[in-house]
Amino acid sequence: MIKNTSPPVVAIDGPSGSGKGTVSRRVADALGWHLLDSGALYRVLAWAGDAAGLSSDQPQKLQSLAGSLQVEFSRTAAGDERILLDGRDITQPLRAEECGNRASELAAIPQVREGLKILQRSFRRAPGLVADGRDMGTVIFPDAGLKIFLTASAGERVKRRYNQLKQKGLDATLPGLFRDIAARDERDQSRAVSPLKPAPEAVVLDTTGTGIEQVVEKVLVLARRRFGSTPGGS
Ligand code: C5P
Repeated sequence: MIKNTSPPVVAIDGPSGSGKGTVSRRVADALGWHLLDSGALYRVLAWAGDAAGLSSDQPQKLQSLAGSLQVEFSRTAAGDERILLDGRDITQPLRAEECGNRASELAAIPQVREGLKILQRSFRRAPGLVADGRDMGTVIFPDAGLKIFLTASAGERVKRRYNQLKQKGLDATLPGLFRDIAARDERDQSRAVSPLKPAPEAVVLDTTGTGIEQVVEKVLVLARRRFGSTPGGS
């Protein structure tokens, strides 16, 4: 049997508002591993596509744009995450709901998903990677050593998203968010390529009514059981 020598991966998938962004960041920090926020890459593509005047019916152009994105993730001294495209800070526009909705529309285009594959896989570096998304365990890292699928009730996910946006000083209304999240869930689950669904071997965790700390703890227990005392970990 050929031994897999690639750095280990924890794949954390789930719908918007399931808590996967926060859980993934905390798990990556606790393990001392890299983090891939794949949703941010779809948002960057949506932003860059609009800036280049591309529409959804130009899949080939979107695919080559996806293949040429120079994206950097960094953190300020205060710990705030920043996303740079070609050295330009575009964090704020990426957070807006319109950008998320546009990303979700583009994410249904097979060429867009193909175009972002290499970039996503380039985040797999030693000592390990925590990958947050919709298809991390099913398509991008099918050999991930641990696959988690987070869920939560629609009502709870809308509330979490609302609080997150308000905290960041962005505009949102509960009925508007409910509509957006329902539409995105529907698109993500029903698209022909890489639909949002748990990998057969994924551990499904329902986070409704559960504190984020408890979910992080559960994932860390599973990660340590799977990978032993992790190479980068504290
Ligand atoms: O996670 P986030 O809301 O930032 O992602 C924006 C959109 O990108 C999602 O609604 C989803 O449609 C798409 N996406 C995806 N596959 C991923 C990550 C995000 O289709 N791995």
